[in-house]
Amino acid sequence: MLKRTHNCGQLRLDDAGKKVILAGWVHSYRDHGNLVFIDLRDREGLTQLVFDPETQPQAHELAGTVRCEWVIAAKGLVQLRTEGMENPKLPTGQIEVAVEELQILNVSKTPPFEIDSAEKTNEEIRLTSRYIDLRRPEMQHKLRTRHQVTMVVRDYFDQLGFWEIETPMLAKSTPEGARDFLVPSRLYKNRFYALPQSPQLFKQILMVSGVDKYFQIVRCFRDEDPRADRQAEFTQIDVEMSFVDSNDVIGVSENLVARIFKRILDVDVAVPIRRISYKEAMADYGTDRPDLRFDMKLKDVSDIAKQSSFKVFTSVIENAGIVKGLCAPNGEKYSRSDIEKTLTSFVADYGAKGLAWSKVKTENDKLSLLSGCAKFFSPEAQQQIIELFEAKDGDLLLFVADKEAAANKALAPLRCKLARDLKLYDKEHFEFVWVVDFPLFEWSEDQKRYDSLHHPFTSPIEEDMDKLPAEGGFAGGRRCRPDPANICSQAYDIVVNGSEIAGGSIRIHNPKVQQKVFDLLNISRDQAQQQFGFFLKALGYGAPPHGGIAFGLDRLVMLLTGTENIRDVIAFPKTQRGQCLLTDAPSEVDQKQLDELNLRTQRHSHKPSQKTNEQK
Ligand code: AMO
Ligand code: AMP
Repeated sequence: MLKRTHNCGQLRLDDAGKKVILAGWVHSYRDHGNLVFIDLRDREGLTQLVFDPETQPQAHELAGTVRCEWVIAAKGLVQLRTEGMENPKLPTGQIEVAVEELQILNVSKTPPFEIDSAEKTNEEIRLTSRYIDLRRPEMQHKLRTRHQVTMVVRDYFDQLGFWEIETPMLAKSTPEGARDFLVPSRLYKNRFYALPQSPQLFKQILMVSGVDKYFQIVRCFRDEDPRADRQAEFTQIDVEMSFVDSNDVIGVSENLVARIFKRILDVDVAVPIRRISYKEAMADYGTDRPDLRFDMKLKDVSDIAKQSSFKVFTSVIENAGIVKGLCAPNGEKYSRSDIEKTLTSFVADYGAKGLAWSKVKTENDKLSLLSGCAKFFSPEAQQQIIELFEAKDGDLLLFVADKEAAANKALAPLRCKLARDLKLYDKEHFEFVWVVDFPLFEWSEDQKRYDSLHHPFTSPIEEDMDKLPAEGGFAGGRRCRPDPANICSQAYDIVVNGSEIAGGSIRIHNPKVQQKVFDLLNISRDQAQQQFGFFLKALGYGAPPHGGIAFGLDRLVMLLTGTENIRDVIAFPKTQRGQCLLTDAPSEVDQKQLDELNLRTQRHSHKPSQKTNEQK
């Protein structure tokens, strides 16, 4: 076999005159009657091979037999391309290799799609033949970027004295809010392992073990429906540190983010990254992961709206709802039917019952509201609205009246959609923000109980410890004033362009406080003992104060490579329906395997014939 001397992206003008051997895949083939040209591809690039029947008849003849995606090796002389034939778009575009010897290393069936037109190919076809799909330069760029990010991460944490420690994949289920993937145990009948939703408890136990600084690039599993930025199987950069406060974890994290963006994209991230409170994020943007590349803040107009004659608004306010809205700059380009059909159905998908609107226009040298719901507002009220939004001629005001959470749920995505449609931001720009001061709990109306906003191991701020209900009425020596709804947590999330790329917190390290949180979450003592007994026990043996964070590696790479599809940054992803189309997982298994695990599938247990037999 000819052994390659260079890769396909390497040769330049300076290499002219060298004898080289290249190997790769036939990207394209052109027969110009006399000369044959092949673009040879490997992960580093493309190089043009030329076959001349006059000088190398044997190689030329063999070249005539090759097809796209065949694997070949070619030996030849690097030469300048004929004048006018250079390709300035290719780094190797000045040269070509005049082939003297050609070897066919392997043939290929006709691929199910062409590498160059894969973008237009249905994703299912691409995922089924993922090995072809991954040959595309765009995909190789994403794989390479992901590799580079992990190298920066390992190097960064190593320099800071962190140890990378693996935690079990076959574990006991620890709740992170999603459903577990279960693995039946063969040796212990009727018992199950759970694949980790995250290594949360293990990394905390490592702090109890004195590890001090831990990180891990780790696979996590959550049995929930995949979405554009969510996979059931995804990767975290997981971090935990001892004797730290939230500023320490935030500092280590933002310097990591800055280093990654610098190394990968040469983008400077200004640290410290700004912080906004959860309250401010919800009020101004309707979400705890705000996209700050553009302004367009939401405003509560309830005070003005309650004096209007618009029944839709007044009745919602009377029923403890609010009227909230936004002002889309130059939104007048949306026609009445755009608003009443497209935008209204957009918010309806997020549960909004309607979308009220009005345009802002200059009339008699004065800005006023025009059309839509303008008629329900007095001239004074109109002016108040215009001032509140600092609205300008040509702007469009949009309002949703509902309970606060419901209004936010619809307006937050509407804000992002409008900004995209109206091109209010530069797609290449990154806007980072820490969201801090989260409440520890949120009230779940469905379940009529409190839920953790992050996870149950997140610590309240010191000042709010006494707002936890306590046994005996005392909390840490202070009299207890139970007020769970108003406990502020020591959690922090980092958000980039509306995507939550990491979240973490300072943890509870006192087993009594941890027990109180479980109590508040309505986790019974028995249940807590059964699920977390091992963890509570560990906390009782000298747990240091500690905290940490986890980054979504896939989401980081999505941002760095400019894709909105998480499957693009995972070599072998699952579809929206949780399937691996390449291997056809999940699949059925042998009866023998099931028997060993003492499992019966429905198909086997509910066979009508079996039932009849049993009844006999
Ligand atoms: P959390 O659940 O917020 O925290 O996860 C941390 C980060 O992981 C990413 N992420 C996901 N990425 C792709 N697909 C998913 N299904 C998915 N779920 C989460 C997000 C998120 O910010 N143990 C805690 C961290 C800690 O407290 O230290 C945890 O797992 O980018
Ligand atoms: P209706 O009275 O339902 O015909 O609605 C009159 C106008 O008010 C329509 O433009 C609706 O889209 C809008 N509307 C209805 N309900 C709401 C709501 N909850 N919030 C905002 N606008 C609404």
